Amino acid sequence: MTIAVVSAMHEELAAVLALMPDEHKEVVAGREFWRGHLHGREVVAVLSRIGKVAAATTATVLVERFGVERIVFTGVAGGLGPGVKVGDIVVADSFLQHDLDASPIFPRYEVPLYGQSRFATDPQLSAQLAAAAKEALPGVTLHRGLVISGDRFVATTAESRALQLALPEALAVEMEGAAIAQVCHDYGLPFAAVRTISDRADDAAHGDFTRFIQEVASRYSAAIVAALLAPTSASRAS
Ligand code: ADE
Repeated sequence: MTIAVVSAMHEELAAVLALMPDEHKEVVAGREFWRGHLHGREVVAVLSRIGKVAAATTATVLVERFGVERIVFTGVAGGLGPGVKVGDIVVADSFLQHDLDASPIFPRYEVPLYGQSRFATDPQLSAQLAAAAKEALPGVTLHRGLVISGDRFVATTAESRALQLALPEALAVEMEGAAIAQVCHDYGLPFAAVRTISDRADDAAHGDFTRFIQEVASRYSAAIVAALLAPTSASRAS
């Protein structure tokens, strides 16, 4: 049972790779895939790059070339929900593309020909990921719910408010999750995602994001992935 660990940013993947004693690199579609073991589990770690198309390509290669049976995404996101603060953690229950609009032919946000706008994550893997996050980072606030993705870094208070008004259930915004969720839906593969809140997707987002990824994101990612795969962990991914 091979599990893929995907991040969008170098800092996060480096921390996960540091936990893999025997990783070796394979380059496919210009991406570096790192095959190895973490706590004795077969893992393929990869940097998806940023944005929905880059994430979808990465997920497809993970399935077709590496035969992974689960995908876990770990990264950062901008907080949208009123109580979702910098340093909190969000485990996604479902994803939606906030920049997808084929109306009036299809309802706003609906992925044409799928008849749905939301793609659920795997309930069991998501529960294990949430348990791993709680175990690894006790005292950190954990939220579960809708995460939205789009090919935009949301960095103005006006845009953040507009998203909150349009999609009041959305807890956080990022740039990859909904694409991977759709690919995993197509292949019938379990997918789960955890995002640490690096900024509030507002006028201060750029500075907050940069500070956060340097200081906190990698430590959080590595701790959560290690807890998820630890043989003794109650939250161990099966
Ligand atoms: N990832 C982290 N912060 C983000 C933001 N404000 N917008 C989009 N993706 C993000």
